[in-house]
Amino acid sequence: MSMVQKARSVERLVQGQDTQDGAGVRLTRLLSHDLQERLDPFLMLDAFGSENPGDYIAGFPNHPHRGFETVTYMVAGRMRHKDSGGHEGLLQNGGVQWMTAGRGLIHSEMPEQEAGLMEGFQLWLNLPAKNKMCEPWYRDIQSESIPETTTGHDVLVRVIAGRSHDTEGAIQREQTEPLFLDLHFPSTEGVVFEQPIPATHNAFVYVYRGGLEIVSNEQTTQVPIQRMAVLANEGDGVVLRAQANTRAIVIAGNPLNEPIAQYGPFVMNTREQLVQAVDDFRAGLMG
Ligand code: CO
Repeated sequence: MSMVQKARSVERLVQGQDTQDGAGVRLTRLLSHDLQERLDPFLMLDAFGSENPGDYIAGFPNHPHRGFETVTYMVAGRMRHKDSGGHEGLLQNGGVQWMTAGRGLIHSEMPEQEAGLMEGFQLWLNLPAKNKMCEPWYRDIQSESIPETTTGHDVLVRVIAGRSHDTEGAIQREQTEPLFLDLHFPSTEGVVFEQPIPATHNAFVYVYRGGLEIVSNEQTTQVPIQRMAVLANEGDGVVLRAQANTRAIVIAGNPLNEPIAQYGPFVMNTREQLVQAVDDFRAGLMG
């Protein structure tokens, strides 16, 4: 029996913008200001992937954050993070760092490798207004601690957040109810994966190996490698049919429907709160 009765269709495909951030790390920005309201509660998605150390070696030296959560998923490579609360951790090959910036902290994210592939994602998830000034929190989830399941069609599902195929993810959040899956399709062509997603939740799919089709009752849309598909908000889930060895992430969340005010690494609800964030940072109140 099918878990999805009415599959969502693709509203648009996004190519992403090549850009630099930190001290000069090359990355592709897939979600930014123009999609923040459409993909509420998500504020940003960056993909990075390079075998050239010149593209990543400069890293992200000390910088602040306030008002949201950052989720860093390291597909390949090693990155060390340190923050103003005295915490430090190594993020590597398949691990995730989930950080709640809350009222603010200063941290660095620096490569701990001088050669080889560094590949992964950073997702920014908004906090509800009532939690924006909460105590900062973070958790390093090593690869072996990320819950995994294999579907009847041999799709390996890494459940970073939310729930999939009766498997509870590493992280759960009230209100934004994020779903973050990393899918590894088998070496067989045309394998199908289904995931229920409430119609109210904003959702998107990004392909980082191979390619896939998003199949709905109305249409079938090809999603090639390095494209993000924004899913229409109708239906009760998504149905993917992939090429051999495809890898893709599926992300969904319950929108907050609150005003978004952003100034760089600070995301609040009003301009006044942004001014306060800058003042607090300058006054050394972020750790
Ligand atoms: Co950061």
